[in-house]
Amino acid sequence: MTETKIMAKRTTIPQIMRLKGQRPIVSLTAYTASLANLLDEHVDFLLVGDSMGMVIYGMPNTLSVTLDMMIAHGAAVVRGSKKACVIVDMPFGSYQASPSQAFENAARIMSETGCAGIKLEGGQEMAETIAFLVERGVPVLAHVGLLPQHANQVGGFLTQRDEEKILADAHAVTKAGAFATVIECTEPEISRRISEEITIPTIGIGAGADCDGQILVTEDMIGQGTGYVPSFVKRYAQVHEDITKAVQNYANDVRNRDFPSK
Ligand code: KIV
Repeated sequence: MTETKIMAKRTTIPQIMRLKGQRPIVSLTAYTASLANLLDEHVDFLLVGDSMGMVIYGMPNTLSVTLDMMIAHGAAVVRGSKKACVIVDMPFGSYQASPSQAFENAARIMSETGCAGIKLEGGQEMAETIAFLVERGVPVLAHVGLLPQHANQVGGFLTQRDEEKILADAHAVTKAGAFATVIECTEPEISRRISEEITIPTIGIGAGADCDGQILVTEDMIGQGTGYVPSFVKRYAQVHEDITKAVQNYANDVRNRDFPSK
């Protein structure tokens, strides 16, 4: 009974879809229960992104993130939040082989974390898989434009400029039944055109101001990241500097016997 009540308070996927044309959709990444708890009140959905491999595990890219890592962090984010819709990324190698591989792993993610849906990267080439998942009850957030899991193939994390391809990808994932799509690192005119043409919400990251919503990696936005921070990120806090000062003060206090106090 209590559980039903808690679940009923969460933002649902149909509610997120209805925001298109109403007001911008707010989203951030979260990988831990404590951060999810802080963000929960303020966002429409939290994404447990595979960017966690780079942001919190210090990996050079997202390719070594495993399904078990996504499930452990996805479950933590669901436990740490009450209101936001939670979406969990499918990691590299967990969905590309076939629609049935994707379904088996998506079902594990959903049943073991309690999240509302999954995200996977790819456009036209993933349309069959997206349709297979959606027909079987798995809500899918698509991801077009820059695909970090393809970074080796395209030579890095580069802005995507092939308008006709990205547009065709966005139409393909819409037709396949995705409930929304991330558009990463495209020219703003491309994402504006996509947002006007497709019926599902577009969630931009480095894709300009005309998407139906925005997402950022939280650690980039609060200034906690130590690695490369993309130029499109706006910093809303300086957490790295604040922690550095706090730790310096603590170390000085301990060395000077000022902490703990007598
Ligand atoms: O992994 C991730 O955090 C993402 C977002 C940047 C959209 O895919």
